[in-house]
Amino acid sequence: MGATNGPDPLLQIENLRVHYGAGRQQLNAVDGLSLTVGAGQTVAIVGESGSGKSSAAMALVNGLAANGEWEADRILFQGEEISRHELLRLRGRAITYMMQDPSGALNPVLTVGEQIKRVLKYHTQLSKAEREEQAIELMERVEIPDAASRLDAFPHEFSGGMQQRIVLAMALAPSPVLLIADEPTTGLDVTVEAQIFALLDRLKRELSMSVVLVAHDLGVVATSADEAVVLYAGRVVETGSVAALFQQPRHPYTMGLLRCAHDLHDENVLNPIPGRIPGLGERPQGCVFHPRCAWKTAECEAAVPELIQLDGQSVACIHHENLTE
Ligand SMILES: Nc1ncnc2c1ncn2[C@@H]1O[C@H](COP(=O)(O)OP(=O)(O)O)[C@@H](O)[C@H]1O
Ligand code: SF4
Ligand SMILES: [Mg+2]
Repeated sequence: MGATNGPDPLLQIENLRVHYGAGRQQLNAVDGLSLTVGAGQTVAIVGESGSGKSSAAMALVNGLAANGEWEADRILFQGEEISRHELLRLRGRAITYMMQDPSGALNPVLTVGEQIKRVLKYHTQLSKAEREEQAIELMERVEIPDAASRLDAFPHEFSGGMQQRIVLAMALAPSPVLLIADEPTTGLDVTVEAQIFALLDRLKRELSMSVVLVAHDLGVVATSADEAVVLYAGRVVETGSVAALFQQPRHPYTMGLLRCAHDLHDENVLNPIPGRIPGLGERPQGCVFHPRCAWKTAECEAAVPELIQLDGQSVACIHHENLTE
């Protein structure tokens, strides 16, 4: 995905591959993801569960499971080519990660204030008193009511939405330039989900931050993201501005995702794509989407479709010019 006319690129990854070891086999969970995140931009990685979104996000912050490995052809940060090691050094400081499940990110036996202060202690030079002050400020930033008096509360004393705000406060503590948010509203109801997205959007602008937003639903990124990469079974099937993907989706999978995209204020409209995403050991030959595709021909099974560059969009479908719903 190019950013020729957009903001200066902050992070660029070329041809990211993530694989997991299963016995002597290496199975690809992400197979060639290229990503450009512009300064101040939100780029969404979208796909159903099992697409490889978390694997890609975790690779960027070096948080893969012990049996996972990743490589990329090139990594550029603020225009400079950097090594994997240099990327790792940015983790937790310039690049922070907010995981899907707040219960995995919060320690149940420590107060939320203590947890935020520990991040500040580790990543900043602030004094004890300044850390206390900053922790309150961060809780206010993520709109926790009565922040000062809630500093000594434990995670279980907060609702799911409020817990996710604490996780966000911890992710913001080192003043990152890039926040990676992995399905930050999983398990929350639609009203709370909308509030969290609005908050993320406001903070991104206030703090001049970029965001990589991982989501399984195109609907939820409609108003929050600038660009999107659609991932299916580890492969990029389409990229483009969110506006373009909504207006003219070019890949059958994106079309399917749009049909089941839910409106944040209306949970009802869901029209799932028939079939299911293949597991790591079951990926078909040729176009990985062909078992679920209504436009499939014999050619689709013969070779992996290349990502074709179109005007501001790219699509990996050999029949993209002849698709009508
Ligand atoms: N540690 C692991 N070992 C083996 N397979 C894994 C591991 N983690 C994830 N996978 C597999 O990799 C694929 C992509 O998973 P994931 O990145 O979690 O996708 P998503 O976040 O889009 O749901 C899935 O098939 C999943 O089962
Ligand atoms: S290449 Fe063929 S199977 Fe794949 S999405 Fe396009 S039409 Fe469907
Ligand atoms: Mg995931």
